[in-house]
Amino acid sequence: MRNGQSFNLNWKFKDEFKPEYITQKEYDSFENVHIPHTVKEIPYDCFDEFMCGCLSTYVRFFELPALGERRAVVEFEGVSTYYDLYVNGQKAGSHKGAYSTALFDITAYVREGGNRLMLMVDSNTRPDIPPEGDTVDYLLYGGIYRDVTLYILEPAYIIQDLFRYTLNGEEATVFPELLIQNEGEVFQGEVRIELSREGRTVHSFRRPVRVEKGLCHVNLSEEVLEKVERWELDAPVLYEVKAILLQGEKSLDEHQTRVGFRTTRVDAGGFYLNDRKVKLIGLNRHQSYPYVGYAMGKRPQQKDADILKTELGLNTVRCSHYMQSRYFLDRCDELGLMVFEEVPGWGYLGGDAYKEISRNDLRNMVLGHFNHPSIIIWGTRLNESPDDNEFYGEMNRLCKEMDPARPTSGVRWHTNSPLLEDIYSYNDYTPPCPGEPGRGEFMIREQQAVTGLPYKVPYLISEHTAPLNCTKPGDSAMRHERFALYHARVVDKVLTSDDYLGALGWCMFDYNTHHDHSRQEKICYHGVLDMFRVPKWASYFYRSQKDPEEEVVLQPCSVIGRGERSEEVTPFYVLTNCDYIDVTLSGDETRRFYPSSRFPGLKHAPIEVSESDVFWQVFWEGSTIVGYVDQKEAARITCTKNPYLKELDVVADDTELYCDRVDETRVVCTFRDTDGLRMLHHFGIGKIMVEGDIELIGPDTVPVMGGTIAFWIKTKALGRPGEAKVTVSACRPGLADRTVTIRLIEG
Ligand code: GAL
Repeated sequence: MRNGQSFNLNWKFKDEFKPEYITQKEYDSFENVHIPHTVKEIPYDCFDEFMCGCLSTYVRFFELPALGERRAVVEFEGVSTYYDLYVNGQKAGSHKGAYSTALFDITAYVREGGNRLMLMVDSNTRPDIPPEGDTVDYLLYGGIYRDVTLYILEPAYIIQDLFRYTLNGEEATVFPELLIQNEGEVFQGEVRIELSREGRTVHSFRRPVRVEKGLCHVNLSEEVLEKVERWELDAPVLYEVKAILLQGEKSLDEHQTRVGFRTTRVDAGGFYLNDRKVKLIGLNRHQSYPYVGYAMGKRPQQKDADILKTELGLNTVRCSHYMQSRYFLDRCDELGLMVFEEVPGWGYLGGDAYKEISRNDLRNMVLGHFNHPSIIIWGTRLNESPDDNEFYGEMNRLCKEMDPARPTSGVRWHTNSPLLEDIYSYNDYTPPCPGEPGRGEFMIREQQAVTGLPYKVPYLISEHTAPLNCTKPGDSAMRHERFALYHARVVDKVLTSDDYLGALGWCMFDYNTHHDHSRQEKICYHGVLDMFRVPKWASYFYRSQKDPEEEVVLQPCSVIGRGERSEEVTPFYVLTNCDYIDVTLSGDETRRFYPSSRFPGLKHAPIEVSESDVFWQVFWEGSTIVGYVDQKEAARITCTKNPYLKELDVVADDTELYCDRVDETRVVCTFRDTDGLRMLHHFGIGKIMVEGDIELIGPDTVPVMGGTIAFWIKTKALGRPGEAKVTVSACRPGLADRTVTIRLIEG
């Protein structure tokens, strides 16, 4: 990307569209909005799923200097789902698809001085545009929900720098391919490539270029970099690359990107990053948020990557089922979180025009996201769509032409599908096997039972566990435990067998959906986190696989008391990375428990607390669980006999936000008992008040769910540094309100 002028602020919006020119007077009925924006805020649940379906108008006024030979190019990174672009009343283009970026050269329509950009956005269900067509299990919302930027460019400018390389030990041979748009005469000049690390130039080279008129692919001849550091999961080294288009010594255009040097390879035995085998363990991620759908900016997008890698300790995420925000992908690069990204699709494949959009999506994804080292697999099939060997063969070829280095895959729910890509990916929702002993565990299928092939191939479980286990934040402890154990069983199985490259659970967090998938609530409660990214116990299973040096995890799947299961309090599992635990239940004798032998593949198997002599007709006393690492006490949970709601904890993910743009952060409020434990089953409400130049996203009175309330706030982008405050009241006598202060700073 290059530096352009952000067009995110100061749009006029109306959720209707009139084709004729809008008069100044009519603008009075328009709303002033900023990007990211959703055409309609929706309630948390139980809404009419079609409420975001409308035609709407977005208008932005802007000034331009005299352009001379220069070009004015506007970029939309994401608008859901279809739009027509008008500049000064003339149609300048249109775009189909909610997840692909589009560039429009609007030079022919602009003038020196005042100009007007207008978008007609169609956010109705569009069965002619992927992923729609079937009963899609997620919402597409609507609106200009990703950044808009204006660029003023010389006639020849760089659209993309595909930084191709091969690696041999520490030596990298690079041969960048530049996509250059040339609106002028044939261009003859040079390109300088500068590679730097943390701002220090480490290498640069120049090549002569000749660029014909139109869109040209310019391949620079090889350059050898003798010593590069590789991008590894625990040390994701990144380099900045600047490509400068030169005429003599005059820079005509500068394009910046970031790269990481690493190799990817698959075979039937595994996935290899830098020639080391690594199991892909992770979750699927949608890009939605409560109330505003897709309309959430940089910080929350980044935070999702942080949660996956740092909080949950995962190494892979699947961008289900479409291209996601560059802020999310950038953060995956920075953290060393591997990404499986795929073209938009869900259960359906349309005719020729539909397929043409998918080809465009594929080009957009591969060319647009080419330099992200975190992306290790391209998904060239539309998720769970029927076979079409001709089309999917072509999609795979197209992808390989653009990027021969990365493995391809395609996600299926059906068996015996011809393998046209490098990896057979399968969403395995095998229901519980009745013959299985225990609490309804199940086994994922052997790969050859799915592929139908007489030999092994690279095979990935691209989804598992939910919807067999929808678990709502306030559900019973048993339900949460079952959900956690399902994840544990699948990961365990995958780690003990070379059949699987890995397993990506369904899914990271709960999400809004259509009635076909959740008739009343319109929520798939399939996440290991709730919609606000607040942990359910299932997420502690993943977290407990981390090294205790990183974080000691001790999470019982129980509130440890009567009234949850039956009169018995045991058995229950503890998700932990401790070597063993000492449990004292209701003042009974202390018993020691070790990791369960039923999960031989896990580094830290859940521990089953299996026996208890604590019966119904005896007094309930306090309990403790103490976890040991290397024979030393590492964590302790104390549950006194008569806890009560004592505290409201309010924590903001960030206490500093930028005041000159829309900047969002999340606030999480936890209701804790006298032992400091989250009160999973507390029913209450919270009232949220904000002061200063910030706004609350969503309603100001909300129910407590699973012992927490969470919400996002955003700046008003007024450009005034200062302080803002968020106060949460639990509306309960004796429980004090809590306030967090947010500093608003200039960026
Ligand atoms: C899969 C699908 C996902 C999600 C999941 C669970 O079939 O790929 O998008 O719908 O089922 O409900």
